[in-house]
Amino acid sequence: IKVFVPCDSSALSLGAEQVAQAILAEAQRRNEDIQLVRNGSRGMFWLEPLVEVKTTLGRVAYGAVQVKDVPSLFDAGFLHGAPHRLSLGRTKEIPFLKHQERLTFARVGITDPVDVVDYVEHAGFRGLERALQMSGAEIVEEVIHSGLRGRGGAAFPTGIKWKTVLQAKSAQKFIVCNADEGDSGTFSDRMIMEGDPFVLIEGMTIVGLAVGATKGYIYLRVEYPHAYQTLQTAIQRAYQAGYLGDDIRGSGKAFHLEVRLGAGAYICGEETALMESIEGKRGMVRFKPPLPAIKGLFGQPTVVNNVISLASVPIILDKGGAFYRDFGMGRSHGTLPIQLAGNLKQTGLVEKAFGVTLREILYEFGGGSASGRPIRAVQVGGPLGAYLPESLFDTPLDYEAFSAVQAVLGHGGVVAFDDTVNMAAMARYAMEFCAIESCGKCTPCRIGSTRGVEIMDKVMSHEDNPQQIALLRDLCDTMLSTTLCALGGMTPFPVLSALNHFPEDFGMSKLDKH
Ligand code: NAI
Ligand code: SF4
Repeated sequence: IKVFVPCDSSALSLGAEQVAQAILAEAQRRNEDIQLVRNGSRGMFWLEPLVEVKTTLGRVAYGAVQVKDVPSLFDAGFLHGAPHRLSLGRTKEIPFLKHQERLTFARVGITDPVDVVDYVEHAGFRGLERALQMSGAEIVEEVIHSGLRGRGGAAFPTGIKWKTVLQAKSAQKFIVCNADEGDSGTFSDRMIMEGDPFVLIEGMTIVGLAVGATKGYIYLRVEYPHAYQTLQTAIQRAYQAGYLGDDIRGSGKAFHLEVRLGAGAYICGEETALMESIEGKRGMVRFKPPLPAIKGLFGQPTVVNNVISLASVPIILDKGGAFYRDFGMGRSHGTLPIQLAGNLKQTGLVEKAFGVTLREILYEFGGGSASGRPIRAVQVGGPLGAYLPESLFDTPLDYEAFSAVQAVLGHGGVVAFDDTVNMAAMARYAMEFCAIESCGKCTPCRIGSTRGVEIMDKVMSHEDNPQQIALLRDLCDTMLSTTLCALGGMTPFPVLSALNHFPEDFGMSKLDKH
């Protein structure tokens, strides 16, 4: 009998390791023959540790399981799917999962993350097998056709970026995976790396074949030790199984991969600072141009893509660009792994086609606020994303629709706040975050963010508010138009959205908001 207990760090932080050990010990005591599989997380954090059992009716789930529940689960006959106080029924029928469209996350929570055979049995490496039969230009065309745009946040068309690298002439090109997932409230990169690392390895190998690069680096934030271990094991096994190396599956084509760890700086998620860091230097932002696609890592043409962009590639190659393109709305094709965090009853991972509204995400998936109070503000797209009020909750998740309301989708993080939030304090926090994380290269960011904190302190102590607010707007204008990278350039997003949508928290009435 197969029993599944996640090894994802969200489940581990809630006691999954102890639950796994307790299940093994109890099975041994009762002479039950079980096979314990450590899977990734299904992404329903309020139900972790989520224990599943494979039955003739499919997988059934129990959650949230604690060590003290283990004997009673055995007593009830959970190994045969029998009901128990913690029963959740068939896993795939749980509404939170049932209403998703999982393409990139198709295997996460289902397979053993580091078992190559399990991966192959669940349609793994099919995209790579097909790519091995294609020319680089054909692979690039397929990805352009899919409409995939960069999921790290900037939404630049992935295939176009690859085309630039394909056309660049150089003896050595590189693929860099940006796994420095620093946005607050985001964890989709981590869940892929811990729950289905082969899909990332497969995606990076396909890009390597597409642009003619034989070497890839995964730049991983040091705060993800479990992802590091899982990636190392998966890479080693991919080499052993012939999916990485000098002669991939007997094709004569080569691709090599290694993981590099960051040291905890948010700015190293910016692609040029990231490359400086891989090169062994301090993470400082480089001027663009030249684009990394022309002159990137070690001065060579380099594809830099986020984990989710790369992990979306295998299914595009397997099922074709047209299949992927059919999901979504407008110019936002495919699906977005949305990460629900903050004051919500049900937090976790929701992969949906673009077009779902914020309201559906917050209430149908998130279940409303955890505190039971009204949701007053939602920050979408990490610490540099805008705060949206209730009146904008019907905005569809679509790059252009968000841009039309001066917001960004970013990396898909959604953090909810109830009506006890002080939005002036959140604006101050944005400036403080920028001051702490600034790389220091340009003045409006390095100095401006510190001045921003000082202005917010005055605003919050009700000192001369109209004049301070005018100064704040001026400062935001300067930061928006004169900084070198998105850290300084986007800090005004949370600040101005808080001010414009919630002026009453800044000691201003709604009427004099502009
Ligand atoms: P960008 O708009 O400057 O560039 C987007 C990407 O397209 C880059 O890789 C760039 O090199 C590439 N590119 C642009 N023109 C190209 C061309 N003609 N040919 C080939 N490649 C080309 O944006 P940037 O600064 O890379 O990213 C900013 C975004 O990062 C923000 O929108 C923010 O949402 C996101 N972000 C994500 C975080 C995370 O944890 N995932 C953290 C902080 C910010
Ligand atoms: Fe560095 Fe800030 Fe300038 Fe970006 S905006 S280059 S983080 S100083």
